[in-house]
Amino acid sequence: MRVLVTGSNGLLGQKIVSLCLKNKIEFLATSLGENRNQDCPNVNYQSLDITIQSEIKSIFNLFKPTHVIHTAAITNVDFCEQHEEECNLINTQAVEYLFNAAKLYEAHFQLLSTDFVFDGEKGNYSEEDEVNPLSIYGKSKVNAERILLKDESDNWSIVRTIIVYGTGNNLSRSNIIYWAKDALAKGDKLSIIDDQFRAPTWASDLAWACLEICKHNEKGIYHISGPETMSIFEIVSRIANHFSSSTENLSRSNSKDLNQPAKRPPKTGFNLSKAKRVLAYAPKTLEETLDLI
Ligand SMILES: NC(=O)c1ccc[n+]([C@@H]2O[C@H](COP(=O)([O-])OP(=O)(O)OC[C@H]3O[C@@H](n4cnc5c(N)ncnc54)[C@H](OP(=O)(O)O)[C@@H]3O)[C@@H](O)[C@H]2O)c1
Repeated sequence: MRVLVTGSNGLLGQKIVSLCLKNKIEFLATSLGENRNQDCPNVNYQSLDITIQSEIKSIFNLFKPTHVIHTAAITNVDFCEQHEEECNLINTQAVEYLFNAAKLYEAHFQLLSTDFVFDGEKGNYSEEDEVNPLSIYGKSKVNAERILLKDESDNWSIVRTIIVYGTGNNLSRSNIIYWAKDALAKGDKLSIIDDQFRAPTWASDLAWACLEICKHNEKGIYHISGPETMSIFEIVSRIANHFSSSTENLSRSNSKDLNQPAKRPPKTGFNLSKAKRVLAYAPKTLEETLDLI
């Protein structure tokens, strides 16, 4: 197996690189600009802007991957809402460029997608549920998924996930779990929404599932998330409880108080039956991971 990873400076990309190193899987890590992950040897790294087809062509020609794990994306939902063209270029158009290159080399193409493809009315989504995105980000991922779904080749997988958290080197953004742990420790006044429900996902569990799908050449859509769906308020309360932080300054609020540019699905969370059955996926609970962050 020769794995080409995009977005290797990102949280998931870094975890995939760690697993490749640990399991002696041949890989080439790529991201925009320089290698910011000091755990990734420079010999395994090449910069790649996924929006430039000539760069994609030379990377494929150089490395000749058997598998592509495509994690790179614009992941800031509100930025996407306000920069539709850029979002569509990176999250959709670039997928077409990479998928076409993968087909030329008969490489398995794996696309990372999101719970934001759903409208959040139902919750506990399975792979067969209808998509209905509420945001530009969600639509950009649905359109990327469609590039694969409508293609004659079936040499691809789509891995949808939910709030990914974990540790990393020089990450360009934080995540709710870290932010909450820090803010609670400082005793900050926190007003946390209690009307959005998610299943937070330990990045190492997700990376394991991505590689497992590649190893066994599993095809189709996979829902990969943490095992429990809870409100954002419950996530923060459980972090407070775990670290014995005071909840004196913690209060509940509503999504509409936040006035965010992008609409969010109220309740997502995944039915993990397929991942458990096919991959023997056994994700960690929130509490099992908190001492590791
Ligand atoms: N994080 C979540 O909560 C979450 C939830 C659902 C789905 N997902 C999906 O899971 C995947 C991985 O998420 P993540 O949290 O690991 O993302 P992340 O930490 O935001 O990393 C994304 C990476 O994409 C790279 N990138 C952006 N534009 C690029 C370009 N033009 N060319 C090459 N690389 C580019 C960035 O590279 P540089 O750092 O080098 O700029 C960044 O490292 C994404 O596809 C995301 O949509 C994530």
